[in-house]
Amino acid sequence: MAKKDHHIILAARPEGLPKETDFKPVEAPMPEPGEGQFLVKINYLSVDPYMRGRISEIQSYAEPVAIGDVMVGGTVGRVIDSRHPEYNTGDVVVGYSGWQEYAVSDSTGVQPFDTSRAPMSTAPGVLGMPGMTAYFGLMEIGQPRPGQTVFISGAAGAVGSLVGQIAKIHGCRIVGSAGSKEKVDWLLEDMGFDAAFNYKEAGDYVAKLKEACQLDDDDTLSDHPNRRPSDLPASALESLAGGVPPPAFEPKRWKASSRIRLPAQSGCRQPVTAHGCAETR
Ligand SMILES: NC(=O)c1ccc[n+]([C@@H]2O[C@H](COP(=O)([O-])OP(=O)(O)OC[C@H]3O[C@@H](n4cnc5c(N)ncnc54)[C@H](OP(=O)(O)O)[C@@H]3O)[C@@H](O)[C@H]2O)c1
Repeated sequence: MAKKDHHIILAARPEGLPKETDFKPVEAPMPEPGEGQFLVKINYLSVDPYMRGRISEIQSYAEPVAIGDVMVGGTVGRVIDSRHPEYNTGDVVVGYSGWQEYAVSDSTGVQPFDTSRAPMSTAPGVLGMPGMTAYFGLMEIGQPRPGQTVFISGAAGAVGSLVGQIAKIHGCRIVGSAGSKEKVDWLLEDMGFDAAFNYKEAGDYVAKLKEACQLDDDDTLSDHPNRRPSDLPASALESLAGGVPPPAFEPKRWKASSRIRLPAQSGCRQPVTAHGCAETR
């Protein structure tokens, strides 16, 4: 019997939290690469927060996924057949092929990935969008200095857990908040956070935050004035508001930094976050 491809399509627009029935696995004919193309067997798919917007009809910077279309998303896989001059069978490539088992590409939007330097599963995680967001958000915009305290809300998420580790490497004291005891334990025991608390059980959020950050009562905390941490109650925001604008964003070249421990992205071992990678088999 001819080999089949497998897709996951959007079956319905979710209301509230997406359900399994909003997605549907379907069989499809095996794609074949034409001249100037290659065929990839996808090994890892990414699952990211922006996807919630893409499966709704909300106006955004990108078109929504149509009902019946393959779910969009970042991918990493191995070239298994090539008629492309620059890609050979065995090459590992990072792309945006969506939730499917095989994909044909002419190399547009695809980047080679060197598995002698990092495992394939890191491509959509620590070395992909969450890692870049964490690194540049912290280092270029936050510009932390050694000895400073860095507070991270959503600290057990893919981005937050990396921000914490990068800040630690740069000599900061790192404090995080997360939404369960399991996540808080993971931050303290595995991710090297100096302090962490469960914001759902914090009671007086500002008092808890000040305690975790080792601040005195008369210290002021400031936050990006236009964007509050997702888990920060509005009343706490009012108490914290310092109205200090973030430093101007001046892109610099990325300097290699020390080693980062790999959370979810190293093989889906992190139990606590919606983001991560899903092995196709
Ligand atoms: N601009 C960019 O390029 C870019 C790139 C990557 C990510 N981001 C943004 O950065 C944020 C973090 O991304 P991420 O990849 O780290 O996400 P993630 O791994 O899914 O973590 C997000 C965390 O948010 C918390 N949360 C609060 N309310 C939630 C809800 N209703 N559903 C799911 N999670 C909820 C959860 O932690 P608790 O249980 O602890 O609350 C969750 O672990 C997102 O807002 C994402 O859109 C932006």
